[in-house]
Amino acid sequence: MTPETALKVAVLASGTGTNLQALIDQVHGREGIHIVAVGSDKPDALALERARVAGIETAVFAAGDFGNDRARRDGAMADWLRARGVQLVVLAGYMQILGPAFLDRFPDAVINLHPALLPAFPGMDAVSQALSYGVKVFGVTVHFVDEGVDSGPVIMQRSVELPDARELDDVLPHIHAIEHQILPEVVRLFGRGAVRIASTHPRRVLVGPLAVLPER
Ligand code: GRF
Repeated sequence: MTPETALKVAVLASGTGTNLQALIDQVHGREGIHIVAVGSDKPDALALERARVAGIETAVFAAGDFGNDRARRDGAMADWLRARGVQLVVLAGYMQILGPAFLDRFPDAVINLHPALLPAFPGMDAVSQALSYGVKVFGVTVHFVDEGVDSGPVIMQRSVELPDARELDDVLPHIHAIEHQILPEVVRLFGRGAVRIASTHPRRVLVGPLAVLPER
């Protein structure tokens, strides 16, 4: 892939950043994909340290620094990312809702990772919700971000059957293993221009060869 076709990626993360690490290890600097910025709302997020170790620029946009004005913070974060030429924004454990001041600046270019098979169990504590419900099949969704909570079009999902799961520890290692596979997979597909929303159906996401072939 030539530099002209390179994909500049930003990751936003609030926590430990194991998914950021999976992206650093599996896609950063390969196939023309570069993680050029990592942002967080939490100054002490371990994700920031992982980025620094990898030599990636970081910034903190804490709610308190913007007088709890979400639009102002979203705008500042979008400015910071746009100044770095970011083309794809990946939310990997970013625990804030993004509003139009951010999303309008990156149309169809913000994706999120959710630890459940949406539309089941959106929002916080998705794995606990699924356990309480008593499901036998768990899973992970990567989806486009819209202004709702985990409500944007689905890009990729992967499931795991765990009929005997009773506790978080029975499920989380499986969820994390799937996350660390499918998030890099989706970012690689973006790098190849192989993800797009169908022109005929705003919720249908064409992935892989489908995305580069004419629609039917
Ligand atoms: C992941 O489980 C993801 O699904 C959720 O937040 C968690 C982030 O984990 N949105 P990590 O910080 O990448 O380890």
